[in-house]
Amino acid sequence: MAFAPGAAGVGDPYFPLDGNGGYDVLSYDLAVRYNPANDVLVGAATIRANATQDLSRFNLDLDGMSVRSITVGGVPAQWSRDGGELIITPAAGIPQDVGFATVVRYDGVPDTLGSPLLGISGFMHTDDGAVVAGEPDVAATWFPVNDHPSDKASYTFRITVPVGLEAVANGIPRGRTSSGGWTTWTWQAVEPMAPYLSTATIGDFDLRAYVAGGIRYVDAIDVDLIGTRTGNVASEAFARQPEIVDFLSGVFGGYPFSAAGGIVDDYGAFSFALENQTRPIYSRGFFSDARFAESVVAHELAHQWYGDSVAVQAWQHIWLNEGFATYAQWLWSEEEGFETAAETFAAHYSTGPNSPFWKVIIGDPGPDDLFDSAVYNRGAMTLHALRETIGDPDFFALLPAWAQQQETGNGTTAEFVALAEQISGQQLDAFFDDWLFTPAKPPAP
Ligand code: ARG
Ligand code: ZN
Repeated sequence: MAFAPGAAGVGDPYFPLDGNGGYDVLSYDLAVRYNPANDVLVGAATIRANATQDLSRFNLDLDGMSVRSITVGGVPAQWSRDGGELIITPAAGIPQDVGFATVVRYDGVPDTLGSPLLGISGFMHTDDGAVVAGEPDVAATWFPVNDHPSDKASYTFRITVPVGLEAVANGIPRGRTSSGGWTTWTWQAVEPMAPYLSTATIGDFDLRAYVAGGIRYVDAIDVDLIGTRTGNVASEAFARQPEIVDFLSGVFGGYPFSAAGGIVDDYGAFSFALENQTRPIYSRGFFSDARFAESVVAHELAHQWYGDSVAVQAWQHIWLNEGFATYAQWLWSEEEGFETAAETFAAHYSTGPNSPFWKVIIGDPGPDDLFDSAVYNRGAMTLHALRETIGDPDFFALLPAWAQQQETGNGTTAEFVALAEQISGQQLDAFFDDWLFTPAKPPAP
């Protein structure tokens, strides 16, 4: 076999250049220093991977930033840049199935992303640090990465910030050390994680670490919010996480990770929440009202099962994330004695048949409609209609079976349909065709 270049994309129909071909990442060790005074990030990324073909060269995804040096297997490698592709040519080819470590040294001011539809996201520079959150894009703005959810890996973060600031990443805290006016915070995300779920959020935070139900929680609330209404609502909503995790575990099966917690910054320029693995990030706007706050926390916690542990194999399967997390909100509302799931379904189902809501094909919404409200609400309705169709016993066997079958891996709509058919013993093609792939209001279940 001749050594050949790895592909520039992993083959996602929506984002053809996301991810790369020819290798599988096992771990990222990200040592980054960030100075909020000039927004510059200086990084050294060690990426351990296995070649899945005989590689003459391979790509990583990296947007902006200046690359200073690259080694592969300890030997200097050549590189070039082409848009978001960092093309690396090692001194010698890498044979299939061989493990190799790439070290990239780089620096610059990470780009913040923006979209007319969703507002700003990505590496967001704040007054005292940064909030790092985005979907589907964020990772390649601050580290070289195989940037697609189909290539999960474990992560170690070593984040160096000026003394007095906190740096919060995913997983378990592994302590901090200070010298010369800088503090390095180490975090370890041991369970495999999709790149977009990683964070390195920096600021003046009040950190709250505790263990509940065997899970290590770390919550981070911006000190500027402490004592404000937003801070109080956030504290109370975060305090209910163990209860919500218990409830969701009863429905979805055991919590898939060793760590949990939430982050809220005072920075008000973004307006979404994201299910960062083990440590979701919330815009402060969600903490205006206790019930609304808990509902959003239930949504992001449900994503730990559906979205994070079971990640999408490709972005077209996004309803498997958002429909499930939204349905969890409906179940939590019912559990709390508010609207039942059936009532919430009925309210959404009353949307008139000519509404544009029913035009979105949630099983393949296209890149511009990934986060359309139909993906969330019709997605949750699909699950409720499925429940009505196959009955509670099969439905509540299916949810944990799906989480378990794909645990720490990736899933597709076709795999979910197959499991639903297997557990219910019913032919469900017409059902899923109506709910996921038809741009019209489906018949009532
Ligand atoms: N998955 C997130 C949620 O359901 C949505 C993120 C939307 N992305 C963005 N860049 N605003 O809460
Ligand atoms: Zn969501």
